[in-house]
Amino acid sequence: MANKILEKRVLRSDLFYFRIEAPELAKKAKAGQFVVVRADDNGERIPLSLANIDPDRGTISLLVQTIGVTSTKLSTLSVGDEIKDIAGPMGHKTPIEKYGRVILVGGGFGAAPLYPIGRAMKEAGNTVISITGARSADLLVYEKELGEFSDKVLISTDDGSKGHKGLVTEVLKNEIEANGADLVIAVGPAIMMKFASLTTKPYNVKTLVSLNPIMVDGTGMCGACRVSVGGKTMFGCTDGPDFDGHLVDWDLLMSRQRTYLVEEKEAMEAYTCSCAPHS
Ligand code: NAD
Ligand code: FES
Repeated sequence: MANKILEKRVLRSDLFYFRIEAPELAKKAKAGQFVVVRADDNGERIPLSLANIDPDRGTISLLVQTIGVTSTKLSTLSVGDEIKDIAGPMGHKTPIEKYGRVILVGGGFGAAPLYPIGRAMKEAGNTVISITGARSADLLVYEKELGEFSDKVLISTDDGSKGHKGLVTEVLKNEIEANGADLVIAVGPAIMMKFASLTTKPYNVKTLVSLNPIMVDGTGMCGACRVSVGGKTMFGCTDGPDFDGHLVDWDLLMSRQRTYLVEEKEAMEAYTCSCAPHS
């Protein structure tokens, strides 16, 4: 059986962790790349970041947030089930080299894709500082995992239930002012990556962001994932997912994401209606 689910964990009511048997993918994939997943034969294809790559065990890990029809179908799968289609690895790997002091900034479950990236950065000889934030302590994910390789893990929560009360960008600013940084990598909601980039700009710290625009084919053919970076049109799937955060047109990216969310909400309502028992 291909793509068999070996482990499933519920991280939050809307967020599921899957470890999947995928030896070929685990051999080829590098930190920062992503996969495109289909839940069934007629399903749409959704991009998912790799939350772990384990070539020794022949497994990959994915986090699925239930925001649309496909992610909701995926969330109902159990250990032993097969995921219909996992294509990849897609996109470019994150450039791993010795930069010096690398700060990882994860917003919400954006912390998960930072796990393979941070581990690779540590193996390359960097000092790695991880900053992860969520609305409240119960929504924090991957704090323990980031601690496996980080020299320091800093937490923020919007409501102050754990760590710094406020946003990850405030912790980022404090950390840069106190200790400096040679590279920042931010993954999370677009608004957080925008403000992380605005935070680092005055300090002239190179900032990579992992963009998650709308994707359809994931192969550079359809143009759905186009983003504007430094005034040039680029494709999230084939040119990304990592881009220079100081050059991204954030307003364009966020307006396209909003359109997608409205369409997904409508599709979800139609899906729920057709699944509901008819009297
Ligand atoms: P969330 O909306 O609760 O935000 C998490 C944290 O981000 C907040 O606690 C805060 O510290 C920070 N943040 C939010 N708005 C901010 C702002 N305006 N300025 C500064 N910081 C801000 O996160 P969630 O609900 O867990 O959602 C995770 C998001 O991460 C989703 O939007 C998902 O699409 C995205 N994500 C992206 C990737 C990727 O590869 N790019 C991968 C996984 C998840
Ligand atoms: Fe179609 Fe990128 S998803 S071009």
